[in-house]
Amino acid sequence: MCGIVGAVAARPVQNILIEGLRRLEYRGYDSAGIALYSDGQIKRCRRNGKVQSLADALAENPLVGTTGIAHTRWATHGVPHERNAHPHMSADILAVVHNGIIENFEVLKEGLQEKGYTFTSDTDTEVIAHLLAEHLKTEPCLQRAVAHIITQLEGAYALGVIHKDAPDQLVTARKGSPLVIGVGIGENFIASDQLALLPVTDRFMFLEEGDVAVLTPSDIQVYDANNNRVTRKVSQFAHGVSAAEKGEFKHYMLKEIYEQPAMIKACMEGRISGDRLLEQCFGANAADIFDQVKQVQIIACGTSFHAGIIAKYWIEAFVGIPCMIEVASEYRYRPVVIPPGTLFLTISQSGETADTLAALREVQSRVLASLVICNVPGSSLVRESDLCLMTNAGPEIGVASTKAFTTQLVALMLTTIALGRRNDLTAEVEAKIIRALKALPEQVEQALAMDKDIEEMAQSFAEKHHALFLGRGTLYPIAKEGALKLKEISYIHAESYPAGELKHGPLALVDKDMPVVAVAPQNDMLDKLKANLQEVKARGGQLFVFAGSDRVQSEDATHVLTMPDCDEIMQPVLYTIPLQLLSYHVAVLKGTDVDQPRNLAKSVTVE
Ligand code: G6P
Repeated sequence: MCGIVGAVAARPVQNILIEGLRRLEYRGYDSAGIALYSDGQIKRCRRNGKVQSLADALAENPLVGTTGIAHTRWATHGVPHERNAHPHMSADILAVVHNGIIENFEVLKEGLQEKGYTFTSDTDTEVIAHLLAEHLKTEPCLQRAVAHIITQLEGAYALGVIHKDAPDQLVTARKGSPLVIGVGIGENFIASDQLALLPVTDRFMFLEEGDVAVLTPSDIQVYDANNNRVTRKVSQFAHGVSAAEKGEFKHYMLKEIYEQPAMIKACMEGRISGDRLLEQCFGANAADIFDQVKQVQIIACGTSFHAGIIAKYWIEAFVGIPCMIEVASEYRYRPVVIPPGTLFLTISQSGETADTLAALREVQSRVLASLVICNVPGSSLVRESDLCLMTNAGPEIGVASTKAFTTQLVALMLTTIALGRRNDLTAEVEAKIIRALKALPEQVEQALAMDKDIEEMAQSFAEKHHALFLGRGTLYPIAKEGALKLKEISYIHAESYPAGELKHGPLALVDKDMPVVAVAPQNDMLDKLKANLQEVKARGGQLFVFAGSDRVQSEDATHVLTMPDCDEIMQPVLYTIPLQLLSYHVAVLKGTDVDQPRNLAKSVTVE
């Protein structure tokens, strides 16, 4: 939930670290701090608020040094406050930045207080600083001291440590939280993700669970959880450096909405030949596993959960085997039945969501195999699952997920085909689905051309306090996603319902102050939905309907936005686009922070 960055170089690193923090701000933005080795001392500067407050403070009083660490925080233990901002120090000799959560910090804290350590923050992280200081009394080597104290930590951590007696060393360790090493020339770096370091390097090394590494300007030494010296592969960043820039767009979210035609194509690239799926894209042993699948359990959170509901509809319709879906935070804590032949499918844009990861770890040994649909190569879910299918959407910076979601749907349809082939899916239907997939980029382009109309429509929402989203079939999860987007970035309370449930409760809420958005399917469910919409109209509700051409007529209090034609199979992807644009424009009208909505974070690596 926090972002960490560190550097050890021959040149001053303050500005490299601040730029890194700006790029990590999507991970946490309630306070920020930096610590550098400077003239035999560790010097630190921390500020409450966004990275800009820290940058302003440093502009007045710069810190000069070539070894340093920095952090942008999303509060878990202790309120957002300067005293709780990282880096945390012990006796002015060392500084620590941490992302993750130390579950046994209270016990450790008591022990350290008994030994005379004074705590100046409410964080779990400060115990790490004092534990290290204590161990360094008898252990002169910083790397060995870090390796020792992490054995006492329960929970998740990615750490960066500097010490006043090791001016050209940056020690790092990770378990359960993401961390990459950026490999430079005569300088090396650490960060929570690759994006933070793109201005200084495009070569990265991913640490395994429990690894500790010592970075100097010219060297990187990695030790595994058993303290054996190991080598970890260095790989090149796969996307262009501009992938992480906003370019001509006002917000990352808008840029990412507009990138969808290209990213949907990228998600299919190399995975389709003619009108057939190339199922090797799931990995060499995938075919054997898929042959044995008898049912699927899907686990995810947030927007990824909505993608999962659509996948359930698809799997039951096209594959003909049972599929259940549940949010990870519930699944992981209840006794679950896992029938033989279960494929455990997780969906996660970040690959680091704590609940999803915990659910996987909980059942890994009891399932036939695990498959993750993910957007971040090298992330924990990718490393720990048996199979993975990357969404290839490129870096997504806006906290509200857009292109990660639509590419998840494409990847899930590819998964449906792979499973379907062994069950109910004929070659003809496979070919039909592939045609629908291939047509998507252009249809999404056409949906993006609705932007101006949707911007106008957004005016009807900006002053409202509530909105209702309705859908049926595979468009019901799209209504859910539309409502979530509106909540996330415009802070308007939005509810979603399968339209058939309207009269079982939500109809009581409908009046002229409750705009109702309906995503109308281009299939035989349309008439059913139309009947539901009449119920809304009769109660004076303002209706906004996204529908295929000529299927629903505009009339008083019913505004119809005509969708591009599209095969009904892939409708969920297409109908997502106007709802993303709607929430975006409402948020802009309301003046909220579109890319970094309050209280939310892109990557939820704590419970
Ligand atoms: C956070 C993000 C959402 C995301 C959810 C699940 O809430 O803000 O955009 O849908 O986590 O994250 P995941 O990375 O597992 O898809």
